[in-house]
Amino acid sequence: MFDRFLPGAARWSVQSPMRPYYITTPIYYVNDRPHIGHCYTTLIADAAARMQRLIRGGDGTVFFLTGTDEHAEKVVTAAAEHGATAMEWADLNAGRFREAFAEINCSHDDFIRTTEHRHKSRVLGYMRELLGTGDVYMGDYQGWFDPSQEEYVTEHAARKAEFKSPVTGKPLEKRTEKNYFFRLSKYGDRLREHIEAHGSFILPEARRNEVLGRIRQGLQDVPISRAITDESDAVQTWGIRMPGDDTHRIYVWIDALFNYLSAVDTDERRELWPATVHVIAKDILWFHAVVWPCMLMALERELPAMVYSHSYWVAEGRKMSKSLGNFIDLPLLRGYMERYSLDAVRWYLITRGPLGVTDADFSHANFVEVYNADLANTVGNSINRVGNMIGKYCDGCVPDPKGATELEGHDWPSIALGHVERMTASADGFDLVSALRSGTDLVTVVDGYINQTEPFRLAKKLDEDPANRDRLNAILYHCAEALRIASLLLWPAMPQKMEEVWSRWKCVPPRGVPLRELAAWGGAHSLTPGQRIEKGSPLFMRADADDPPPTPIGD
Ligand code: MSP
Repeated sequence: MFDRFLPGAARWSVQSPMRPYYITTPIYYVNDRPHIGHCYTTLIADAAARMQRLIRGGDGTVFFLTGTDEHAEKVVTAAAEHGATAMEWADLNAGRFREAFAEINCSHDDFIRTTEHRHKSRVLGYMRELLGTGDVYMGDYQGWFDPSQEEYVTEHAARKAEFKSPVTGKPLEKRTEKNYFFRLSKYGDRLREHIEAHGSFILPEARRNEVLGRIRQGLQDVPISRAITDESDAVQTWGIRMPGDDTHRIYVWIDALFNYLSAVDTDERRELWPATVHVIAKDILWFHAVVWPCMLMALERELPAMVYSHSYWVAEGRKMSKSLGNFIDLPLLRGYMERYSLDAVRWYLITRGPLGVTDADFSHANFVEVYNADLANTVGNSINRVGNMIGKYCDGCVPDPKGATELEGHDWPSIALGHVERMTASADGFDLVSALRSGTDLVTVVDGYINQTEPFRLAKKLDEDPANRDRLNAILYHCAEALRIASLLLWPAMPQKMEEVWSRWKCVPPRGVPLRELAAWGGAHSLTPGQRIEKGSPLFMRADADDPPPTPIGD
């Protein structure tokens, strides 16, 4: 893997070039099939991973992990409802997650399942280490268990939610057990100091403040095991046993968090730790921003650089739920992909999703509006328009700017560089929407330039003045070269469509070259004057706002 790591290739990047970029998603429960929420988190991690590969110039500097969390009690109960064993059910649904992520063109480097030997064997090792720290003890636990989320909720939260799950609304269960506990309370001060000293350890800011507020109220020790009282109980026996004590199994959450380490605990991957960013949603912030870092402190491992916690998708203004039957599921997304293209779906989800602290609404009307505004009328229109003009006025060959880089007050090399720098800084700060806006904004600059310079008018006046030919060539070259650079910036969200542009315009970027070099104006990777290019069909056809939502495809 690391023979492709190119030290020094991206020395200008905000991230140290010597540190690999290791990005993870939550590992998803396999009691059910994937829906928009799971696809969204994996998609934004995909966009971030692609941005870093682009910026750094090479795959080996980036490692993107996703996978499935399989030892949950609800996997056993869902399996039983379907007449399957837990393992059969986990296999089936893990396969569905894999397929879903392939369908949306996610570029993960690994997919980990917690039932795999590589994970289970390493978890035993981590647990032995933890037992050896003196931070684990046997205690009594009584509390309100939320079976739908596989976690205990505090007395306060249980009361507030009228003893129903604050997430799913299903009834809570009062449970008492003897469990192994991890001394979370011991690490509260150290964690608080760490969060205070590292402004981007928890993002967005509001989530960071939430966590700090709760830490200040004091941390309680957390159970890390579940008792096994009946060896014939399929629920109790599903999971990894505590090392040295067969009467307990490791709590699924602890088992699951270890995936981030276990996946890279090999000779070739060990230098990936600590992770650069764990991408999650607000529902599992506490485990990632508090429990996990404290466990890592106990194990004397380095902490991840960032936990990024996004918000939730809701559907047509309402929370998605099984009972309402309004889940935006994969078949519906497939319907959108077929009608508007996969990259249009990726664009909508990535740029209009709940990346910040507010929930985002998936609505058909909004989808069509965004599709038309950003893709059909901006990116697609500009690329088609410039390609057509080159076809018509320059015999289909990239015109020669004859060294001109500045015209009508547009200093193109610095305009392009400004957008590239904004993309880089935004990507490093996990502001993915701003990173992608650098691409659409550059397209908008090109549109304004076309309106200002009117190359279509100039083309009619070529006989009037021989200088008009040079001017027309320079304008169209600037437009095309700026769009080539914009296509690089948009590629992390729309890889297929942008690769289509590169193949039409004969500017496929070579592997292993960092963005800054690829995007250098008039540099080695620029459009070549005289090169014949293909026009091709419109990248995004305008959509009719009155069309009803597409019908779901498949199951
Ligand atoms: N298995 C645990 C995570 C363990 S990680 C060590 C789990 N799994 S889950 O299947 O419930 O997935 C939760 C995650 O799915 C959320 O954190 C989020 O990433 C994604 N989403 C689920 N529903 C969502 C929305 N409605 N909207 C956006 N993302 C949400 O928790």
